[in-house]
Amino acid sequence: MEALINGVHLRYEVHGEGEPVLLVHGFPLSRELWRPLIEPLREQYRLILPDLRGHGESEASAEMSMARYAEDLAALLDHLGERRPVVLVGLSMGGYIGFEFCRRHPERVRALVLANTRAQADSEEAARGRRETAEKALREGSGVVAEGMMGKLFAPDASGELRERWRGIMAATPAEGVAAALRAMAERPDSFDTLRRLDRPVLVVAGEEDAVIPVEDARRMQEAVRDARLEIISGAGHLTPVEQPERFVAALRGFLDTLGSSASGS
Ligand code: MLT
Repeated sequence: MEALINGVHLRYEVHGEGEPVLLVHGFPLSRELWRPLIEPLREQYRLILPDLRGHGESEASAEMSMARYAEDLAALLDHLGERRPVVLVGLSMGGYIGFEFCRRHPERVRALVLANTRAQADSEEAARGRRETAEKALREGSGVVAEGMMGKLFAPDASGELRERWRGIMAATPAEGVAAALRAMAERPDSFDTLRRLDRPVLVVAGEEDAVIPVEDARRMQEAVRDARLEIISGAGHLTPVEQPERFVAALRGFLDTLGSSASGS
């Protein structure tokens, strides 16, 4: 499906009925990241899968920020008539956007799932590197960014077929979207305070072999939140939901089961 959201055409899918779960992919990925969750969870949940602005099949804008991505999500929920608080599941950049969404719309968040992500901001050096890569993407296309990421995204045992599929998705991301996301990530604030103040259930998911965001960063987030759960998924790198779908679904379902129904006030 497609909708005009904050002036741009965004693609998204909605599956199932039940408590809303908003699935926010990372960079430079697409809603395909969540495909393995649909069949197992659609019986019980309303799954909302956007392609973020400038990713997948959604239109790009030259300038983005975590705030603009978060406002796109809020406007999409409005468009869908979804006024209930959501379980927001964010992977990597999706987690960075999730923090911003919590700052701007705390009343719309029922629980937070932080997968393969981190709460700290970029170092000066990392931010500079991102800005340079943004320029390179605009000059040479998204393929260079995709190639640069390929070596780090997957656990060593990931199949060639899975790797090629994601190489293609990343390379097809519009260069304008890639550059805008890189600059937006470079600008993002530290989110540990947001996490500490968040009065919501939190699940942290890490890939045991994630070479982009180490398990150590997941532990730091877990320690920042009282009663946060941590699930470390073996056999997974950075793209846990597609590398180890059954384990990811089991971890998510286990967490969702503890939330009960929002209608019952639990
Ligand atoms: C992502 O998967 O969203 C990115 O790798 C995150 C990042 O570069 O910090």
